[in-house]
Amino acid sequence: MAETLMHAVQYSRYGGGAAGLKHVEVPIPTPKQDEVLLKLEATSLNPVDWKMQKGLLRPFLPRKFPYIPGTDVAGEVIKVGPGVKNYNAGDKVVAMLSHATGGGLAEFAVAKESLTVARPPEVSAAEGAGLPIAGLTAHQALTQSAGIKLDRSGQQVNLLITAASGGVGQYAVQLAKLGNTHVTATCGARNMDLVKSLGADEVLDYKTPDGAALKSPSGRKYDAVIHCAMGIFWSTFEPNLSANGKVIDITPGPSALMTFALKKLTFSKKQLVPMIMTPKKENLDYLVKLVKEGKLKTVIDSKHPLSKAEDAWAKSIAGHATGKIIVEP
Ligand SMILES: NC(=O)c1ccc[n+]([C@@H]2O[C@H](COP(=O)([O-])OP(=O)(O)OC[C@H]3O[C@@H](n4cnc5c(N)ncnc54)[C@H](OP(=O)(O)O)[C@@H]3O)[C@@H](O)[C@H]2O)c1
Repeated sequence: MAETLMHAVQYSRYGGGAAGLKHVEVPIPTPKQDEVLLKLEATSLNPVDWKMQKGLLRPFLPRKFPYIPGTDVAGEVIKVGPGVKNYNAGDKVVAMLSHATGGGLAEFAVAKESLTVARPPEVSAAEGAGLPIAGLTAHQALTQSAGIKLDRSGQQVNLLITAASGGVGQYAVQLAKLGNTHVTATCGARNMDLVKSLGADEVLDYKTPDGAALKSPSGRKYDAVIHCAMGIFWSTFEPNLSANGKVIDITPGPSALMTFALKKLTFSKKQLVPMIMTPKKENLDYLVKLVKEGKLKTVIDSKHPLSKAEDAWAKSIAGHATGKIIVEP
């Protein structure tokens, strides 16, 4: 490999799934104003990566082809662009790349300083790379949308977390238990022990009748639902909510958006809240610190070498990951 080329995995059109990914050699990117060049050590996948390839965010993303997917990375700074103040070559970091540029399935990537945080030695590259989208989404849903204070102040909140074994759900359970919460969680039978070990107070197998009905085994009504699964209708949530209960839906489809509008228009006390994560550097920094302190962990589903990125891609599309899928250059 010439010195200025790197191995990367990209796709050049919508569709194609794992078979649509191509291994290529492309120039190592150059950091521009306020950017750092990273030698990547780990990248985690998120469902949005393959949803973009599928064309679900068309015409906004990807902005152009070919596109190197992957936004959640950990690595080492090897060069800084003009204007970078807080990083030097040799620093270990976690970063979230922009969806517009992508770049995570590669040996090197450029990240904005504004979404790059320091990674202490206690936090492995894989643990760090798991955090950006999944961790920030869990954090925002709990603190901003559900109003939970992670310092245990405030009254106890009864929470339901659906798909607690997934990338977002596993962080949501752990973060929720930093606050004053009672957590009911749903997952498949094979992950019930894991989800309990993350701190859930009670766990439901979503394939049983009570699990499908989201019924709390202790009879609680939920003040908030962090809804990380898909395909559950309002009519299933509604009887399980407390008087002012909210469903925070992180994958709102047409039916959820209709419910959102209807509940607003009718001044319903029970609400559906669609949520899109807005990345914030200070929150990513907070999550990395929690991992360092042993208060949060990244459950790792599997690790795949970059040379087999299509296996990781297929695993994410299948929708049965337990925690985060990691690709390592
Ligand atoms: N709004 C935002 O900004 C935002 C940000 C991040 C993610 N998201 C979206 O949030 C969703 C979850 O993301 P993720 O990264 O957590 O996905 P993920 O890691 O792919 O989730 C997979 C997990 O979900 C479990 N699961 C699937 N259906 C379930 C159900 N009905 N009940 C209980 N568990 C179920 C699976 O368990 P089994 O294997 O046992 O089936 C598996 O462990 C995706 O749609 C993603 O696009 C949105």
